[in-house]
Amino acid sequence: MTDTLIELVRALPKAELHLHLEGSLEPELMFALAQRNGIAIPFASVEEVRAAYSFSNLQDFLDIYYQGAGVLVTEQDFHDLTMAYLEKVAADNCRHVEVFFDPQTHTERGIAFGTVVEGITRALADGKARFGISSHLILCFLRHLSEEEAFKTLEEAEPWLDRFLGVGLDSSEVGHPPAKFARVFAAARAKGLKLFAHAGEEGPPEYVWEALDVIGIDRIDHGNRALEDSALVDRIVADGLTLTVCPLSNLSLCVVHDLKSHPLRTMLARGLRATINSDDPAYFGGYLNTNWVQTTQALDLTRDELLTLARNSFTGSFLPQADIDRHLAEIETVAARFAA
Ligand code: ADE
Ligand code: ZN
Repeated sequence: MTDTLIELVRALPKAELHLHLEGSLEPELMFALAQRNGIAIPFASVEEVRAAYSFSNLQDFLDIYYQGAGVLVTEQDFHDLTMAYLEKVAADNCRHVEVFFDPQTHTERGIAFGTVVEGITRALADGKARFGISSHLILCFLRHLSEEEAFKTLEEAEPWLDRFLGVGLDSSEVGHPPAKFARVFAAARAKGLKLFAHAGEEGPPEYVWEALDVIGIDRIDHGNRALEDSALVDRIVADGLTLTVCPLSNLSLCVVHDLKSHPLRTMLARGLRATINSDDPAYFGGYLNTNWVQTTQALDLTRDELLTLARNSFTGSFLPQADIDRHLAEIETVAARFAA
């Protein structure tokens, strides 16, 4: 890959559409918050934490990710976590983010729903003022818990509903298909919320079909395994749905065994609106531009593919059309500077 393409990646305006705020908790901040809140963590140093980040599947990662989130207690903690993420992606020329959080990870520990939401949304407002980054917030249900608990969370969210773009579905995929949450997603839709779900990360193509046919999702998180079913790919293309793909996450969680065999190029070639995202950057080795650069190098992505990916990040967002058009126009300006 030429240096020019790396420069193009850095210069392109981008949106990030798949990011778990709890997954942006760097070991340094984890230690600082543990100390601030008097919480014991089972690691002696930042190096020891990093050494523990070796995963053979999604569950391996989730176990350590939920444990790490235990240091988040006060509104200020959630603010600091969110602000640290925004500072990182501002440096990556990221202009818009649609971020997930997992309220049940915190309310289960006795943290008030409002503490979490107020801390995060205050930081998102600060991030807009400091970096010009616009944002949407998505509340995720933990799929290893029951639908009843998801309903309880939706009820708790009621006073803050106007702060959310929509609801998502994350955590342990296999054994917890989308249909398990059909009723709570219908209730969220009735409240005017958009619907998102992790599907086809580890789970089979049938889970992606369910996310489409039973839930009626507005965007697919990951979706890698959809490629195993060509009728499913045709359907996703026909519906114009976006896939929020996370290359370094896929590598860390052994969804792919080598970035060179990542299906991103195939997705684009099949006409899928794929995007590049970081998922849980503190755990998977890099933020937005690291995902872009490493994927570009591994797959030898072309200038045209990079421009498509940048456009997809905005056309796949839920920004107002006028904002999307403004970002797309800027992409064309940058593209002209990096003429073919
Ligand atoms: N929670 C945080 N990251 C996740 C992922 N990649 N898949 C499912 N749940 C998650
Ligand atoms: Zn995710």
